[in-house]
Parts: sequence; structure tokens; C-alpha cells
Amino acid sequence: MSDDNTKDMVETVDVSPRDPDLPQAPGADVFRQLLHQAVRVADMANSQAMRMALDFAKVYEREQGVRKEFENQLKQMTLMEKQATRYAEDLAGMLRSERERRQELERALEQERIASEELRRTGLQGISHLVLAATIKDRTTGTHLQRVRRYVEAIGERLGLPAALVEEFGYSSVMHDVGKIHTPDHILQSEHVLSDAEFSVIKQHCIDGEKMLGTARFFETARAIAREHHERWDGKGYPDGKKGEEISLAARIVSVADVFDALTSKRPYKEAWSAEAGLKAIEAGAGERFDPEIVAGFVALAKEGVLERISSEVAASDDDDHPGTPAK
Ligand SMILES: [Fe+2]
Ligand SMILES: [Fe+2]
Repeated sequence: MSDDNTKDMVETVDVSPRDPDLPQAPGADVFRQLLHQAVRVADMANSQAMRMALDFAKVYEREQGVRKEFENQLKQMTLMEKQATRYAEDLAGMLRSERERRQELERALEQERIASEELRRTGLQGISHLVLAATIKDRTTGTHLQRVRRYVEAIGERLGLPAALVEEFGYSSVMHDVGKIHTPDHILQSEHVLSDAEFSVIKQHCIDGEKMLGTARFFETARAIAREHHERWDGKGYPDGKKGEEISLAARIVSVADVFDALTSKRPYKEAWSAEAGLKAIEAGAGERFDPEIVAGFVALAKEGVLERISSEVAASDDDDHPGTPAK
């Protein structure tokens, strides 16, 4: 009830006599006063109650709002928690399968490593058998092959080739003359100047060597070296007359190392040349017989004393293998 309604009610309470001429009832004023007071008090109480009700309504409304907001936040948090849980589960699953994949890959790599190690061992055994047979036949020495291998590796390093390639060039170089197993002894060991016919038989050792080394990837470089180590930079070599970079890099390097070692070693038909004389012959062949860049590297190695060190280290290891025999 509003304040105005209360006032209306008070105004309608009529305690005055109906006839103004009639004497007023005793105590009427007092009653009217009391009634007004009572109405005022009621008004005040009413207003206060209204205010309290409005305040309460406001507080209630605010609290409802806060509660709703809180509920929304709770909902969002629950949702986020669910999403986070799902995400964590997905992640754990991914990690699990990633770990399994990695373990599988590691197992495969290990098997691959074992297989390639076996292949390498088999290949190296094959090399030593081939080389042994060829050196017996050719009467070359193991030290010639050791020096050629070390020179080839030193040149490869000097040219900045990757270590794995240097190693491959090295072990492949010792097979450069395996094809001589098929060359008849009387031609191979001839101490007189060869006839054209005999020389064409000698040339065959390059082709035979390549064939003997089969088709395995392990011998790919060895096959190229066997076939091309007598080719020349100017195209006047044999068996194919390849020139320049048509000749594989490995064969161009072996060519320099092999000729230098042949010149500076004693053979049944000649004395050993000095290192200086051998190096001069190699330098003279740059751009004709040999790749000039490789010759430049080889000359640098000589100046640095690397060739001399290799030669004496190989001689020392040969002494260890054959104690009591004089150095060759
Ligand atoms: Fe040869
Ligand atoms: Fe040789």
C-alpha cells in the first residue's frame, strides 16, 4: 500500500458529529489525534517495510546475478577441465605411439647396422683374399698397396672430401690391380719391353678387375678404380681413353698415388727413384697424365712431409710384421 492510500483512508475516517449544531462528543479531539498518530506510525512502518522489501529485492537480485555468473564460470571451468583432460589423454597417446615408433626405428636401425657391419666384414675379407692373390701373382708387395692406400687417403683429406668417402677411396684403392690375376705370368713378369700384342693383354687387367668386383655397392668405387686407374687426364690412357672429369675422382687420385709409389719403389726391372725425382715426374704429368688439382694437393703433401711420414710408417709396420728381415 502506498503512502497516498493510507492518507486517503485517514481522511475518510470521520469522527465529527453529522450535525454541526450538535454538541461534539466528549474526547473526539483526543481520539482524532490518536488516530492520526496511529496512521502516521503505520505510514512510517509501511514505508520502512517497503524500503526493506526493495533493498532485499535488490540484494536478492544481485546475489542471483552473482550466483549465475559463478555457475557460468563453474560450467566453463568444467568444460575446460574436460578439454584439458582430453588433450592430456591425446598427448599421452601420441607420446606412447611416438615412443613405440622410435623403439621400432631403433630396432630396425640396429638390425641395419648389424647387417651392414656383416656386409662390410665380408667385403673386407673378400678384399684381402683378392689382394693377396693379386700380389702373389703380380709380385708386387703389400707395402706398395699400403702406401698407395695411405697416399690416397691423404690426398682425399687434402681435397676436403668427407671422411666416409676418404675411407672408401682408401680401401677401394688396394684393389686397383686385382685384374692381373688373369694376366699370364710370362707377360706380367717380363723384363723386356712389351710388344703391342703383349701390351694389349696387359690392358685387359683393367676390364678383368672391374668384372671380378661384381655388382655389389660395396665395390662400386673399387670397380671404377680398377677400370680407370690407367686412364689419363688428356684422354690418351687405357682401356677407354676417357679424359678429364669423365674419369672418376677416385681413379684420378689412385693414378697419382700408384705411379708415384711405382717410381719410388724398387722393381725387378728398375731401381727405386728418389722421392724428389718421383715428385718431379708427377708434377711434369700435371694436365697431361694427371688431374692438375690432385697433383697440386700431392705436391703440398710432399712439402709438408706427409708423404715421407707415410712411407716410413709403412716400412716400420712391415718390419713389425716380418721381424729380422731388412727393410725394403
Ligand atoms: Fe694397373
Ligand atoms: Fe699399383
